[in-house]
Amino acid sequence: MQLLARRPPLIGSWRDHILRRPDLQRVLLRLPLVGALVRRKSRTVFDLLAGFTYSQVLLASVELGLLERLSQSGPLSLRVIADFCGLSQARAELLLEAGASLDLFSKLRDGRWSLATSGAVIAASPAMLALVRHHRAFYEDLADPVALLRASKPDTKMRAVWAYVDGRGSAHGLSAEQVAGYSDLMEASQPLVAEEVVSTIDFSPFRCVLDVGGGTGAFLSALARRAPHLDLKLFDVPAVADLARARLLARGLPGVQVAGGDFFVDPLPPGADLISLVRVLYDHPDQWVLRLLQRIRAYLATQGGTLLIAEPMSGLPGAQPVGAAYFGLYLMAMGGGRARSPEQLRSLLKEAGFGQVHAVRSRLPIQTGLLLASCKAT
Ligand SMILES: C[S@@+](CC[C@H](N)C(=O)[O-])C[C@H]1O[C@@H](n2cnc3c(N)ncnc32)[C@H](O)[C@@H]1O
Repeated sequence: MQLLARRPPLIGSWRDHILRRPDLQRVLLRLPLVGALVRRKSRTVFDLLAGFTYSQVLLASVELGLLERLSQSGPLSLRVIADFCGLSQARAELLLEAGASLDLFSKLRDGRWSLATSGAVIAASPAMLALVRHHRAFYEDLADPVALLRASKPDTKMRAVWAYVDGRGSAHGLSAEQVAGYSDLMEASQPLVAEEVVSTIDFSPFRCVLDVGGGTGAFLSALARRAPHLDLKLFDVPAVADLARARLLARGLPGVQVAGGDFFVDPLPPGADLISLVRVLYDHPDQWVLRLLQRIRAYLATQGGTLLIAEPMSGLPGAQPVGAAYFGLYLMAMGGGRARSPEQLRSLLKEAGFGQVHAVRSRLPIQTGLLLASCKAT
């Protein structure tokens, strides 16, 4: 749709003319090449209309435990699946047929059902399973998208999940209960990001990494495996820092230094030559992001060093709908943040005083974009 909107005006007016003429469309459909293009575009349009049902088929399959069950057991008969899901055979078949049309399930020649490729990918990823389950809160907020768009500070379910963006309590005031849900979700989904970051960025020139807003330490744990020469430090709100200490210890990483505080006001632990912000900036509005970047710039200026930003970004080729539609609405419901393009982040970094900023090509831009910034003059 975006592509169509960007067409030059002449092509745009031809398109609009054709769209108003069903008789012309019927003629075009019969032409070999143009017909294929029209069919593809109709599919795109219908997917826009119906996409919410696709997500619900996925949610039901995940909540019923069907993806995980098929992944563990291999193909099963309809009767066994219906029993397992607590559904009538007719309803189980409806779900399976719907899932088969979406590449979640496939029906074998002997009539049993197994996972199709997308189903197998999701079933194998605790990160994706956790995200799908978590979307329930988001669906509730999206029940009235216009009201969500109109409200300046909507009282959403997502706001309750992400307690730190609300301003209801300062970072210091957050309780263990308030941080447990989002911290578990972040830990479960971290492999989607960590693998991409540690395999793309060269950490060999660095001595000590401070992961700011580092959650329960899942990213640093992946980094410790990849670059064992590094000293590692983590900073997060005190309640999350407590969780991180316990989980890093359980993962056999007692050497990671963990500090709790508010990254907008409290001093960051000294000594790092690389600071990482993994899925942190997009949570916050521009003025807060600028404030955090200025603090990090001041920190790095005293000892020389680099800032790594890894988070979903808008406008990355191949990831436009995820950046603009998914994260656009998600972060709005959450309250205050937004997915920024590399150019928008670059201009905030420059405003904060960073001299050099360069984008690192991410192999999976749908999961994360990457920027490195340093204080050196350009
Ligand atoms: C979206 S989570 C990302 C966690 C982790 N970096 C990851 O990618 O899994 C953002 C993190 O920033 C932390 N955070 C938010 N506001 C903070 C603040 N003012 N001071 C310190 N940490 C904060 C949250 O507690 C949370 O752990």
